[in-house]
Amino acid sequence: MSRLAVFVPLLLVACAEPTAGPDAGADASTDTAWSAPALIGPEASLEDTNPDPDVVEVSLRAEMVEVDLGDGTTRPMLGYNGMVPGPVLQAKVGDEVIVHFENHTWDATTVHWHGLRISDEMDGSPRIQEPVAAEGGTFTYRFVVPEAGTFWYHPHVRTNEQLELGLVGTLIVHDREEPVFDAERMIVLDDVLIDPATDQIAPFLRFHPELVHGRSGNVLLTDGQVSPGPERTARPGQIERWRIVNTANARTMSLSLSGATMRVIATDGGRIAEPFETDRLELPVGQRYELEVRYGAAGTVALQSHVLVVNDAGDVVEQAIPVYVVDVDGEAVEPRELVWPELATPEPRAVDREVEMSFDAINDPAEGILWRINGEAHRMEPLFTFGQGETVRITLANLAGQEHPFHLHGQFFEVPGRPGLYDTVLVGGSETVEIIAHLDNPGRWMAHCHILEHAELGMMSEIVVDPR
Ligand code: C2O
Ligand code: CU
Repeated sequence: MSRLAVFVPLLLVACAEPTAGPDAGADASTDTAWSAPALIGPEASLEDTNPDPDVVEVSLRAEMVEVDLGDGTTRPMLGYNGMVPGPVLQAKVGDEVIVHFENHTWDATTVHWHGLRISDEMDGSPRIQEPVAAEGGTFTYRFVVPEAGTFWYHPHVRTNEQLELGLVGTLIVHDREEPVFDAERMIVLDDVLIDPATDQIAPFLRFHPELVHGRSGNVLLTDGQVSPGPERTARPGQIERWRIVNTANARTMSLSLSGATMRVIATDGGRIAEPFETDRLELPVGQRYELEVRYGAAGTVALQSHVLVVNDAGDVVEQAIPVYVVDVDGEAVEPRELVWPELATPEPRAVDREVEMSFDAINDPAEGILWRINGEAHRMEPLFTFGQGETVRITLANLAGQEHPFHLHGQFFEVPGRPGLYDTVLVGGSETVEIIAHLDNPGRWMAHCHILEHAELGMMSEIVVDPR
């Protein structure tokens, strides 16, 4: 059975707010000091208060905020530094990042840096880090960002609730050798479930479909605003980098682009050796892609999310909902080519070990629906112990009909047949997917389904990578 993604567009409010931000490309800076390229993103970047050019020191607060998602209603939600999504954390490869975190919400929380290969003590796993106490608890996260790419951060305590309520932010690690695009866009795709009776964020884990398929929202969000949000502008001929992340609780986004072509240049694990063009991008929750988008003549460029809706005749049909629209107009920019630094082709790695992880569910008489990995829900003991540097083929066997975006913390893996490295991969209903994990980062690492309701209801485990 396919995923239940019947989309009910409750809020069809046009959002007329114009973009005020600098919607223009950054000029290549000529001085030696590196600065991050101008970013057209959901919110401001976190302010770096450390004078050392190789240290990024920021303050991050989780707090209660009143949010207008662009539909004219103000709702109590949670935000980082008052924003939904939170501010972008920008650094460059090799930087030390220091985050002074304060929790001013009513619930304990942690911050997980999704995709970063850092120390497990800084990873936000509540199995390792005592969660930061509600109403004033603090913690300082400190790590070195090892590689360039698009990442994100979010809580790892009652994740299904805290994420849906707005605790989501993005993290970009730049490579200073990379070419300067005419514009860089950070695009945060999400959905939210609004209860039509109260017009508030719907209660959690109340209804059967949410327990089974995960929580699918009835409103699509782009950068925290009802999609597509404000119209953006660009000039003909521009070459842009779009960094896209799906921060929904459960909804896999199926994306297409009209008016321009999309060329995938990076996956979860950063730049890929052979960029490729595609008509459809399947983006499960947690995963990221970076696209190179080249505009032609004046016109409209629209990123669309294809969702299933029930039409008037009662049939389930696909509908394309615009989630990001750029009005391409004005004087064309000079045609040019981007010059990328050489990318070393990674050595093929021989598989040292093979293991299997299976996914299923049971209906427990006492606890209701439980989601399991290898026959166990909420397993606390490590599922496997490996040695640092091992290359492991993990067979992800989905024994039931619901899909599971599988996420492994702290490591990257290959998905045979696809270019690039990943930390999240979609395992479709009753499908088996093999991944080749590069277990180079020692520690205790969570391995779970990123459908947050599945994880909350048991689909959560841990692997150990022993240092060598
Ligand atoms: Cu993005 Cu364990 O999570
Ligand atoms: Cu799942």
